[in-house]
Amino acid sequence: MGHRRNHAKGICFTGTFEANGNGSELSRAQVFVAGQYPVVGRFNLATPNPNAADAMVRVRGIGIRITPPNGQEWRSAMIDAPIFPVSTVQDFYDLQMASSSKEPDAMKNFIAAHPEFTTFLGWAKSAPWTGSYAEERYNSLNSFVFIDNSGAKHTVRWSLVPAAQPVSILPDELAKRGPDFLDQEITQRVASSPQRWSVVVTLSNPGDPTADPNKAWPVDRRTVDVGTLTVQQIEPEADGPCRDINYDPTVLPAGITTSDDPFPSARSAAYSRSYNSRTAEEKYYPRNATGGKQ
Ligand code: HEM
Repeated sequence: MGHRRNHAKGICFTGTFEANGNGSELSRAQVFVAGQYPVVGRFNLATPNPNAADAMVRVRGIGIRITPPNGQEWRSAMIDAPIFPVSTVQDFYDLQMASSSKEPDAMKNFIAAHPEFTTFLGWAKSAPWTGSYAEERYNSLNSFVFIDNSGAKHTVRWSLVPAAQPVSILPDELAKRGPDFLDQEITQRVASSPQRWSVVVTLSNPGDPTADPNKAWPVDRRTVDVGTLTVQQIEPEADGPCRDINYDPTVLPAGITTSDDPFPSARSAAYSRSYNSRTAEEKYYPRNATGGKQ
């Protein structure tokens, strides 16, 4: 009770986004004007179970809220998978139904009807695991539109590319660590030095699949490094500054809008419902940071 309905396990942080000014070529949002802006973010695991063991959850995510001086926030929630499991919002709903079904063949039938899901399974089976949130690359997967000062539009996706060198660790090895090793590791790591990511924007070419997050764009697409996210301090999850933030991907500054990708508006509706439910359950939410499982 009181937890996010998905990505329920996580840990909050504060830091900064330092824009280098390069993004201003693509978007007139103030967040891209060279300068340093505060961030409240949250590392998380893609599971509805707030007590899941870290080694059991394949997909890791991050939510960030960047607030420039004009108050026009850029919120984004990204995951470490390079593609989304399915192509459409309805298919994602059907996947939730299949994966929680008691019918023994539910997943088998879902996979047979959704060949695109096997691309994701291929990643899930073959991609190396790391021992740290700091070593992950996080991807928007959904596309958005940047509007520049001349009014021209650019359809883009973005990623956070870690400064830390990823060290791959076998899942069996991770399973031997404690159930909360990711929280412990990132807490120690950030206490000893701030952790950084480049914020990299990828531009689509005409004809690229902008409405389907299950389809990667060709690797030769132009990218622009727009600045650096620095995680400076780990904050309490239970009663820290992330608790009452909804990392709704449609909360965007003037200069960024949604695209023909239907996911962000569906996500906005789902996140709002989750937010309303969890904030209405406040009395069950563990308020003391040491109060056991969150
Ligand atoms: C229709 C598709 C989707 C649905 C229904 C959905 C649903 C949800 C829900 C209900 C939450 C909890 C929100 C809250 O209480 O604050 C959530 C969180 C999250 N989702 Fe999604 N999601 C979808 C697609 C995606 C995609 C495409 C991504 C990333 C590329 C993503 C990444 C995340 C992340 C990182 C969080 C955690 C944010 C936080 O820390 O508060 N989701 N999602």
